[in-house]
Amino acid sequence: MAGLSLPQKAIPPKYFYDAAGSRLFERICRLPEYYVTRAELSLTRLHIAAIARFAGRGCELVEYGSGESMKTRLLIRALRPAAYLPVDISAAALQQAAKQLAQDFPWLKIVPVLGDFSRPIELPAPRAARHASRAGRVVYFPGSTIGNLDPEEAHAFLAMTRDQAGRMLVGVDLKKDANVLHAAYNDSRGVTAAFNLNILARINRELGGDFDLRRFAHYAFYNAPLGRIEMHLVSLARQRVRVAGHRFGFERGESIHTENSYKYSAEGFRALAAAAGYTGKRLWTDRKGLFALHGLTAV
Ligand code: SAH
Ligand code: AVI
Repeated sequence: MAGLSLPQKAIPPKYFYDAAGSRLFERICRLPEYYVTRAELSLTRLHIAAIARFAGRGCELVEYGSGESMKTRLLIRALRPAAYLPVDISAAALQQAAKQLAQDFPWLKIVPVLGDFSRPIELPAPRAARHASRAGRVVYFPGSTIGNLDPEEAHAFLAMTRDQAGRMLVGVDLKKDANVLHAAYNDSRGVTAAFNLNILARINRELGGDFDLRRFAHYAFYNAPLGRIEMHLVSLARQRVRVAGHRFGFERGESIHTENSYKYSAEGFRALAAAAGYTGKRLWTDRKGLFALHGLTAV
């Protein structure tokens, strides 16, 4: 309600992820144009030994925005963590991933945490006494989900994790040719469009909205001065929409801003992390230089 009442209407991207949204995101990860997932998977495979040395075998692994926990499988094999704590806002994705991981890694202690990391999260107490200090815990935040936070939100998030773990592995999408970015967020099969529009379908399902999805269009572009992809839903007509008893008017061409996806240079991200009390110790990239995994230590 607050977002739809703003002069530039906006809905926070965390609301994309109901069961349908999580499934659509998993399809995005497999699209030919969406290089993000493949680049991070490939760099993780390439550098897994060094990444494991940095994180430390036998640590407790906390993953924020774990989704289907796909890349985590590589870490789980290499690290043999004492426990794995996936944290996600999507109950469906969390449950499905935990079930699958329990089958594939029967020795692994899995502690799923359903939660919203845009607010302070109280994590369950460490399992073993030797992990009682934050040094025994490692935070993993892959996928460039940190890019969906604006820089102030990213700062608050990093400051929160700093009190939870001594080390952090963060996957961050690198700045690159705007055409590559444009293709990744405007795929030819329309999966990203369906992912974006699902937020309106979700409002209809959960808040008794009457959005007509045929009267909104997916629009994504790279905002170079701000270094971010912006996703919007553009109204194709002048119209009024009801949501939970409230009415919202749209001009033709007016948009709802649904997501930012910030792209960072290695130095730019290190500066953001430093302001939140982290030192950038390691940096791993894929062979094409598309994506970065930062190894940070809490100061
Ligand atoms: N880590 C996975 C998934 C990235 S998609 C990967 O690298 O592919 C982003 C994930 O973060 C989704 O699973 C979504 O449900 C979760 N998410 C987004 N905002 C969140 C929030 N505020 N709190 C907790 N989880 C969130
Ligand atoms: C989860 N997140 C990092 C994705 C991204 O690339 O910003 C979400 C996404 N939006 C459109 N495509 C993928």
